[in-house]
Amino acid sequence: MSWIREGELTIIERFCANIIKAGPMPKHVAFIMDGNRRYARKCQVERQQGHSQGFDKLAQTLRWCLNLGIREVTVYAFSIENFKRSKEEVDGLMDLARQKFSRLLEEQCFLNVCFAYTSRHEISNAVREMAWGVEQGLLEPSDVSESLLDKCLYTNNSPDPDLLIRTSGEVRLSDFLLWQTSHSCLVFQSVLWPEYSFWNLCEAILRFQMNYSALQKARDSYMEERRRQQMERDQAYVTKKLQQEGFASHGDSQRRRTLLQRCTAMREERIQGFLQALEHKRVDFFERLCTVSA
Ligand code: FPP
Ligand code: MG
Repeated sequence: MSWIREGELTIIERFCANIIKAGPMPKHVAFIMDGNRRYARKCQVERQQGHSQGFDKLAQTLRWCLNLGIREVTVYAFSIENFKRSKEEVDGLMDLARQKFSRLLEEQCFLNVCFAYTSRHEISNAVREMAWGVEQGLLEPSDVSESLLDKCLYTNNSPDPDLLIRTSGEVRLSDFLLWQTSHSCLVFQSVLWPEYSFWNLCEAILRFQMNYSALQKARDSYMEERRRQQMERDQAYVTKKLQQEGFASHGDSQRRRTLLQRCTAMREERIQGFLQALEHKRVDFFERLCTVSA
């Protein structure tokens, strides 16, 4: 029996879901599922029980997301920092992950699980990958840009989250998707994660809808600025080339146009080559990891 597809929304939930769906909907929602241990204390149950109920709440929340037409969900399941917890708790969480996650992921093509993850680690890894590309002669130092860094992150196949939700009343990101959420709607809710309800999710989506146009405007103007900066870098490169060829930097507009087109095409070619090499490197790494742990 599936954990996700079983059960539908109640009539009143379906009614409200349809009203909410008339507005702009987030396509990608990220969750920091916080408050499992406080919930366990509050209910006077074992800590592991709090985590287990937290996991069940994740399965239920994914079902709501599916019903609301949310196409992608990313969750912070275990941060690198969480390894500092007691051995007993870490082992318990690992057991839970082993028992439950593989099945959940088999059912869910729209779920990304960040496990043993921190955003600063992800970003510094992306910077190291670009440095490796330059070292290997696959990239020019001038190819390093925000848009290339985007492509080196683990999330390169996903759009940035539109909405990030953290439960339990903590108002910080705890090193989760720092790069990817710069234009996301951040919603902090006081409910403990195992108590999260359909109505909490609706409230977060309503907050996203209330801020939608400001978020879109900020995202569009950032993308525009990024394009402008790239164009400025390309123009500077062409000016330098023209000077090397003995042309006055402002002269010969036909030559300038040709150089600009060639510079853009060559950069694109280098970047594609680098990304392919990176993909091979990652596949090799995972294959070796699987051989070691088999
Ligand atoms: C935060 O609550 C939650 C976690 C560290 C684990 C989050 C993961 C799940 C709920 C899904 C199941 C996950 C696994 C790994 C199987 P907390 O422990 O920080 O509780 P507190 O904030 O009340 O102390
Ligand atoms: Mg916590």
